[in-house]
Amino acid sequence: MSAESADLRVLSVASEAVPLVKTGGLADVVGALPGALAGEGVAVTTLLPGYPSVLSALGRSRPVHVWPELFGAPARLMAGTLEGHPLYVLDSPSLFVREGLPYADRAGVDWPDNWRRFCALGRAAADVAGGAIEKRGKPQGFDLLHAHDWQGAMAAAYTRYAPLGGRTVPSVVTVHNIAFQGRFPAEVFAGVGLPQRAWHMQGVEYYGGFGMLKAGLFCADAITTVSPTYAREIRSHTFGMGLEGLIAERGSAVHGILNGIDTKVWNPANDPSLAAPYSARTLAKRGANKRALEAEFGLVEDEGPLFVVITRLTWQKGMDLLPAMADHIVALGGRLAVLGSGDAALEQALLAVSARHPGRVGVRIGYDEGLSHRMQGGGDAILIPSRFEPCGLTQLYGLAYGCVPVVSRTGGLADTVIDANPAALVAGVATGVQFDGVDAATLASAITRTVALYRSSEDWQRLQRNGMKADFSWKASGRAYAALYRTLIR
Ligand code: ADP
Ligand code: GLC
Repeated sequence: MSAESADLRVLSVASEAVPLVKTGGLADVVGALPGALAGEGVAVTTLLPGYPSVLSALGRSRPVHVWPELFGAPARLMAGTLEGHPLYVLDSPSLFVREGLPYADRAGVDWPDNWRRFCALGRAAADVAGGAIEKRGKPQGFDLLHAHDWQGAMAAAYTRYAPLGGRTVPSVVTVHNIAFQGRFPAEVFAGVGLPQRAWHMQGVEYYGGFGMLKAGLFCADAITTVSPTYAREIRSHTFGMGLEGLIAERGSAVHGILNGIDTKVWNPANDPSLAAPYSARTLAKRGANKRALEAEFGLVEDEGPLFVVITRLTWQKGMDLLPAMADHIVALGGRLAVLGSGDAALEQALLAVSARHPGRVGVRIGYDEGLSHRMQGGGDAILIPSRFEPCGLTQLYGLAYGCVPVVSRTGGLADTVIDANPAALVAGVATGVQFDGVDAATLASAITRTVALYRSSEDWQRLQRNGMKADFSWKASGRAYAALYRTLIR
C-alpha cells in the first residue's frame, strides 16, 4: 500500500528528526517513522519546533495556520517536507530561534522557559490534530496524535483536557528515555492553559510539581517504549525513575516496540563513507576500512582487535568506566578508538588515556556522522556498557556492519544481541557478547571473553555474519505501530 492510499492520518510531534535536528537516537527514530509507516497504510505528518536548522531547511514555505498568540507571542505553522513526507514547523522565533542547543544554552544550561517552549509545541500539536488547519472551510484534522518524549508529551494532555472545538483525538506517547521527564515547579501550571481540574495526581501534577512526561503518560490512550525489555524495566523503581507506579498502573496500555534502523543510510555494501564497501560475503574487504580507521586515529597496526565506542559521554552510557577499560584492552593487545562528546570531566579523562597509550588508544571529542560510519565499518567490536538503554541504535548499526556488539544486558541491548555463550555458539546463532551489571570487573571479563573470541577467527566471523544477516529494518516495527494505531481508532 502506498502513502497515497493511506487510510489513517497520524500527526507525529517531537523536538528532533534527522536530518534536520539531532541530539540522539530520538531523531533517527522520528525521522524514520513516516517511511516505516507509509507501507502500512498510515500517512505520517511530522511536527517540529522551528529551530534555526529546521527553518533554514524549510526554505521558502507558506504558513498553513496562524496563532495570533501562542504562549506570549504570535506563531505560524509552516508546511514543508521531511525526506519526501509532509512536515509542519512551528515558527515562533522567541521560543525556538536561539543560539545554542535545542534544550540548553551554549554553556549547557537548560533554558529556564523549556516548559513554555514545549507546552507551546504540545498545544500546537493538539490544535492541528483537532482540525486547526482548514481547506475550503473544512477542518483537516488527524486520526491520531503520536507524541515523543517529554517535549511532545503535552500534546496528549491538551487533547484530553482542552481539545480544539471539543474534538479529542486518540493519542500515543512514546518514551525514548524515561530519565528525561520535563519537571518544573508547580507555579508554572498557572501559565500552561489547562483547566484547574488537570492539577491532580490523576493529571499533570507530579510529586508536587508540574510533570510534562507524567502528564502525557497519564493522558495518552497508549504508551509505547522502544524495546520490550525496557517496557518491563520501567515498572521498577531502578529504571522507572519515579514514574514506575504510573507505568505499572497503565498495565496493558504500555507496549514495547523495538526501533528499526534506516537500511538506506546504514548499509555497508552501499555506504559512501567507507573506503571499501562490503557485505557478509566479502567480509575480508573490511580489512581496508580497519587500516584506514587506524590511520585516522593514529593507531599502530596490530593483529589484536580494534574496539570502538560511539556515544554521548554520560553516566547512562557507562562511560565513567571507559578509562579503566582502555587500560585493560591495551593490556590484552587490543586497541581502542573513541568518538563522543558530553560530560566535560569524561572528555578530559579520555584524552588523558589516549595520551597514556599513544598508538593504542585514539579519542575524538565531538560529533561526526561520517566518522561514526567509518568506525562501524572498520572496528572489530563496538563497546556499549550502558547502565540503562531504552533501545540503543549503535548496537544495531554494529550488527549490520559486522562490528560485533559487546553490550550490557539491559533494555534494547538485551533484546537485540544474542550472547556468544556455549549453547549459542554450538547452535551457530550468536551475534555478540552480553554481560550482566555495569561495573569494572564484569566489563573487564566481558572484554577478555571478546578478545578470546576474536582470536578464534572462525567463531568471530560467524558472529559477524549472523549479525549482518539479522533483520533490524523498520518493517516489523512499522507494522507493530500501525497495528497499535488501529486498535485506538474506533
Ligand atoms: P542515545 O539516543 O541514548 O544517545 P542511541 O544509540 O539510540 O543512543 O542513538 C545514538 C545516535 O547518535 C546513533 O545514531 C549514534 O550513531 C549517534 N551518535 C552518538 N554519539 C555520536 C558522535 N559523537 N558522533 C556521531 N554520531 C554519534
Ligand atoms: C533514547 C534512548 C535510546 C534509544 C533512542 C531512540 O535516546 O536513550 O536507547 O535508542 O532514544 O528511541
